Amino acid sequence: MVATTKTQEAAGRDGWSSRSGFILAAIGAAVGLGNLVRFPAEAAANGGGAFVLFYIFCIALIGLPVLLSETLIGRHGQASATRSVERMAAESGASKAWTGLAGLGVLSAFMILAFYCVIGGWVLYYVGIFVGDLFTSGVTGGALAGMSASDIESIFPTLLEQGGMMSILDAVFVAITLYFVARGVSGGIEKASVVLMPAFFLLLIGITVYGAFTGAFTETLAFLFSFDFTRLTGPVMLAAVGQAFFSLSLGVAGMITYGSYVARDVNLAKTSTTIALADTSVALIAGLCIFPIVLAAGLSSEGGMGLMFATLPHSFQSMPAGSVIGLAFFVMVGFAALTSSVSLMEVPTAWAVDRFGFARPIAAGTVAALALILGVASAYSFNALNDFHPLGFIPLFAGENLFTALDSVTAKLFMPIGALLTTIFVGWIAERRMIDAENGLRGGLDRFWFFLVRWLCPAALAAILIVGIFPDILGT
Ligand code: PHE
Repeated sequence: MVATTKTQEAAGRDGWSSRSGFILAAIGAAVGLGNLVRFPAEAAANGGGAFVLFYIFCIALIGLPVLLSETLIGRHGQASATRSVERMAAESGASKAWTGLAGLGVLSAFMILAFYCVIGGWVLYYVGIFVGDLFTSGVTGGALAGMSASDIESIFPTLLEQGGMMSILDAVFVAITLYFVARGVSGGIEKASVVLMPAFFLLLIGITVYGAFTGAFTETLAFLFSFDFTRLTGPVMLAAVGQAFFSLSLGVAGMITYGSYVARDVNLAKTSTTIALADTSVALIAGLCIFPIVLAAGLSSEGGMGLMFATLPHSFQSMPAGSVIGLAFFVMVGFAALTSSVSLMEVPTAWAVDRFGFARPIAAGTVAALALILGVASAYSFNALNDFHPLGFIPLFAGENLFTALDSVTAKLFMPIGALLTTIFVGWIAERRMIDAENGLRGGLDRFWFFLVRWLCPAALAAILIVGIFPDILGT
């Protein structure tokens, strides 16, 4: 029975048109605001070099094994994330309850999608500002002519006061995402990635080279690559693991879903390695792109979201051709965010198609509408709903508004739990022959990978969860 359905589905099911189509789409999913906003901010907050080195270590020993685990579950199942896990569990004689790990991922992807598109809307706002600025400041002048430093820095807080404006921008970003997801895997998602990702890389390299010649490049190198190991404390290590995770899009069933569209003859170990290498390179290059610009303007290298939305716009002012660079920069961020939001919308869409038999455009449209409702509510949590703390009864999330709660609950709880369950499932529950048939590894490398999935990853993830939920354990 199962085999027949599987063959029928595989035969009629959309999928990546080529190996490189899959790699570009998966890199598009991985590379996003996490690399461009979160990585530089985390590196700055956690002391630079030692964090960066440990981050690379985490990508190799935890991120990469989990990435391969997720894609192989998907490729084996050839169906939505929940159905893929269900199949592997059934064929291994394990409980159907394991499907829950993918169900949690589908929910997380939806929650991230909701607030991610609000940030995507902010990026659109800055694209608009720099387009307008090109007309006023001209191509050769610095950006934002005639504005004082405090005028520029107040753009972002002023935007956060405007719930209506943010909702409209959110709707635009959701609509663009929906356009690609509704068109399907090969005809929409892959096409977007194949065009947007190379454009993204060109812009990234262009701005980085520009920064290297005009900005504080030597200071940046010293900051990012000088290893002061006394700064490698417990919390710094945890921050690095969490960042590795968010950046590779793990624990939200996204890579299970993308893996399910991969052809049988693709070597998943090789493609996973390429994806992880590309994602890490972009994070490092983003650091080399952003810090020279910020440091050259003598601005602080700290400050989370403010680094991109308040500090950077300010630093474009002192640059030659600042409005062109500013525009190029935010277009680049928008492209990266879009290929990630597309991957986030695809997860619940594929699930709804599978679960309820909806046509893809209906499924995607429903997901988009619901994500917009949640997104608009979260946009208002910076103003009208500021005092609404949905999870106030849980100490860990006590002070969070809806927007930050969506981020924290997924990053601190659901993603690590999802990935922990994935490694236990692949390392202990699923039959080894299915894993071996999919993973593309042999000999010593296969044994080493399996050791990581079976022992190191679950142990490390359990530790992160415990210390994340009870931060006092580390005494800091
Ligand atoms: N990895 C994406 C980024 O770095 C975010 C993301 C997380 C996308 C989870 C999909 C799933 O921005």
